[in-house]
Amino acid sequence: KELAVQGSNGAGQPNARPIVLGFSQLGSESDWRKANTSSIVEAAKEAGIQLRLENAEQSQQRQFEAVRSFIQQQVDVIAIAPVIESGWDPILREVRQAGIPLIILDRLVEVSDPSLYITFIGSDFYEEGTKAGKYLLDKMSDAAGPVGIVELRGTEGSTPSIARGKGFRDALKERDLLRVIQSEAADFTYKQGKEVMRSFLKAKGKEIRVLYSHNDDMALGAVEAIEEYGLKPGKDIIIISVDGTRKAFEKMMEGKINSVVECNPLLGPNLMQAVNELMQGRTLPKKIITPESIFTEAMAEKEVKNRKY
Ligand code: AHR
Repeated sequence: KELAVQGSNGAGQPNARPIVLGFSQLGSESDWRKANTSSIVEAAKEAGIQLRLENAEQSQQRQFEAVRSFIQQQVDVIAIAPVIESGWDPILREVRQAGIPLIILDRLVEVSDPSLYITFIGSDFYEEGTKAGKYLLDKMSDAAGPVGIVELRGTEGSTPSIARGKGFRDALKERDLLRVIQSEAADFTYKQGKEVMRSFLKAKGKEIRVLYSHNDDMALGAVEAIEEYGLKPGKDIIIISVDGTRKAFEKMMEGKINSVVECNPLLGPNLMQAVNELMQGRTLPKKIITPESIFTEAMAEKEVKNRKY
């Protein structure tokens, strides 16, 4: 059953005090994440919602602690951007028992009972992976021999990493010439992206024709590793990334990244709207998915000025 939600003065009545939102942010591993946090902080200010924000630095255990402290503080609503998908059932039950409505943001949770949370606000990561795969099918439509692809995955066990990998592979199924020859997790960070790309190059060298990176930070690190190795990113190795940060657009303008699938971090306004609606006793859809696009080198110069993160 869905949780019944009431404002502090009863459903439908204006609250005498500001709504208090406890938000457990999973970390600050990427430019996307920093933009996501800023968007939430700014939107809360604008909406007059009191935000209690905890950064878990990529630790699920720290997210549990943050959620327990929000329960103790008796916040009105809790939102979680979960670092990985699994392991959430017990803590979500604690939230339910406390009678606090819960919103899942950005990444999904895999739970036995979906009514443990009210709504999910974020992206369709599978669709993002499919877009990356379709771009590659098109780009490599003339390729005669096998095309070696390496993949930088994000955080192991996180929804974006699982679904972006699956969407990409499903899209490539129709051409078996396109083969993933190496795939490793690099935790969505610039540093690990660079290190893992170095190890790919050491193992496979010029066999690598394509890099699919699950985010821009890792792709930017990989660009450096490829240059260090003496190859031209974007030419010798085709690079497809996900997020759409300004830095990735600048690299696209230089021809060092070929395509970027957009993932929108600016979820603050959607979150505050959902919180307000919950407190007014309204019913929310189970999923609120943000519309997203895909960009290529040819579009980079025109679009770069529109990037907000
Ligand atoms: O969950 C969204 C992903 O997390 C973004 O693609 C990545 O940059 C971030 O770390």
